[in-house]
Amino acid sequence: MPKITIDNIEIEVPDGTTILQAARMIGERNSADRHVVPPTMCYYSKLQGSGGYCRTCLVKVTKGSERDPRPMPKPVASCRTNVMDGMVVENAINAEVRDVRAGVTEFLLINHPLDCPICDQAGECHLQDLGYEHGVSQSRYQFERRTFDPVDIGETIKLHMTRCILCYRCVKVAEQITDGRVHGVINRGDVAEISTYIEQAIDNDFSGNMIDVCPVGALTDRTFRFSSRVWFTKPMDAHRDCKQCSGKAAIWLKGQEVLRVTGRKDQWGEVEEFICNECRFEKKQLSDWTVEGPRNIDRHSVISQGHYVIEPKQKVLDHPSPNVPELARLKPAKKP
Ligand code: SF4
Ligand code: FES
Repeated sequence: MPKITIDNIEIEVPDGTTILQAARMIGERNSADRHVVPPTMCYYSKLQGSGGYCRTCLVKVTKGSERDPRPMPKPVASCRTNVMDGMVVENAINAEVRDVRAGVTEFLLINHPLDCPICDQAGECHLQDLGYEHGVSQSRYQFERRTFDPVDIGETIKLHMTRCILCYRCVKVAEQITDGRVHGVINRGDVAEISTYIEQAIDNDFSGNMIDVCPVGALTDRTFRFSSRVWFTKPMDAHRDCKQCSGKAAIWLKGQEVLRVTGRKDQWGEVEEFICNECRFEKKQLSDWTVEGPRNIDRHSVISQGHYVIEPKQKVLDHPSPNVPELARLKPAKKP
């Protein structure tokens, strides 16, 4: 099994592992080492062929392998580069990597509007995180920006093409999860855009997953839009008997009102299991769900700033619904 060292941390990985997957294995082994994991805007482990579009995961290979120790001349996309035995990689500790990541962020923000104050994705937007870490307060871009009117694609999804960074994740979802892709990227270069074929609406049982995989606010849930900022809602793990999907979801509550339903996302911001549109868009009553308990949002975003912790023996709801188990009271934790 090849050994790789990323930011001075060594790990042995199976053949065929990419640098990004090896970095995630280090992060999963010890959460204190998660700084070695490059950010990703287009790679999604559950979607085949994803990755290679956005360049945010660039890293520096300072030693190619034991057999050929020469460094790679340019930063490489970690989601598309396989590990070789003896490889040495630098991510967070390398100044050049930080510099190129800032450059990529600047490119991604060329056409992306800074409308976070009115965007539903704010608080769970990967571009917002990237901009916060690597962005600059001013743009050097002097040409006219691309603008588009928002479009309803289907009854439940709104497309803000102005915010799209062309990561292709939604296209892969449509290709691999739904039973008939009716949208894709048309045109190329600076006129490329997501579009439905011949104005066809997206209308199939798993199309809502496109909203979950979109790293920015380009695809939003029309049943939730403008209902609340996500950091004012309480995410709960909940499940229901569903014939189409596992029925395991995260429900986002305001009081006892279910404002939205999403897939459960893991520490890398990827859904654990794709959910169907019935669960996502039609089950908006608390009584539709069996609530398992508060969801830990494992992200350095504003959502986790609530730091909800569980205090046993206290009920969270004054008038619990019959299918809500004894929940612990949610209370903001003391700031570290
Ligand atoms: S709409 Fe979202 S998921 Fe689709 S390509 Fe654009 S940024 Fe990616
Ligand atoms: S995550 Fe690697 S190129 Fe986008």
